[in-house]
Amino acid sequence: MSSTDHVDRYAVVGNPVAHSLSPQIHTSFAQQTGQALSYQAIELPLTSFETGIRDLQQQGFSGVNVTVPFKREAWELCNHKSRAAQDAGAVNTLTFQPDDDIDGNNTDGVGLVRDLVDNLEIAIDNRSILVLGAGGAVRGVLGPILAQSPASLTIANRTLEKATELVRDFGAQGNLEAVAYDALGAEKFDLIINGTAAGLSNEVPPLPDTVIGANSICYDMMYSVSTATAFVDWAYSHGAAKAFDGIGMLVEQAAEAFVLWRTVRPDTAEVIRSLGRL
Ligand code: ATR
Repeated sequence: MSSTDHVDRYAVVGNPVAHSLSPQIHTSFAQQTGQALSYQAIELPLTSFETGIRDLQQQGFSGVNVTVPFKREAWELCNHKSRAAQDAGAVNTLTFQPDDDIDGNNTDGVGLVRDLVDNLEIAIDNRSILVLGAGGAVRGVLGPILAQSPASLTIANRTLEKATELVRDFGAQGNLEAVAYDALGAEKFDLIINGTAAGLSNEVPPLPDTVIGANSICYDMMYSVSTATAFVDWAYSHGAAKAFDGIGMLVEQAAEAFVLWRTVRPDTAEVIRSLGRL
């Protein structure tokens, strides 16, 4: 490529962000689809997200992905928000428009559902779902999960009020219930999704093993490249039929952003395999 060739610029912004896999994923997508773009990881200071974003806009970037801890601030900055972003109250994909407006989207929930339904062939419709956690990560995925029409969706959280708040906000979209971990009884769930931050400290939510039956499938929204996550280990040692980490969700949310920006859909299976999922 000569120096005069135009290359659209993208980035993931976060703090910390150095270990993000997004540059590798988007670069693979670009190579696969023949798109001329660059994608880098940029750490923004915790106290100057907006200045950092305006600076990238000035420099001519076309869009950015936003990761921890800036997804809420990104939501506040957008001039236009997709339905998914409105539901999530958080934005993970910004598109810079020629008139300097910023469009905000949230691809996390669609990414999770694509990984579950398309890649792993795990049905959600008419199934009983248990979601662990009630923070920003869970709020970001509830809309797309409920759009798949589960029979029921139970949200368990240490701080019950946060789960109750989600049930209030999303109650019109499905059959939802909030419970404390110690109130989970003998009901076995078809699918258990860990959306807590417990894995960051190598912990597992205080979940009674009575919720796992021989046919239960567990999914950890966190991922780990070389070893199993604490929740995946826990799931197998408590009799889950199958357990997966969130590497596929990571790649699928990236693919949704890529489609928004480039209007071509990359082949995610190849990239997920290259990151270690069999
Ligand atoms: P995120 O954006 O990752 O969702 P968050 O909004 O701070 O971050 O939410 C973190 C979630 O993980 C919460 O549901 C939190 O439970 P509380 O609301 O009770 O704090 C949950 N969490 C964090 N560490 C946990 C642990 N060790 N066990 C169980 N839940 C945990």
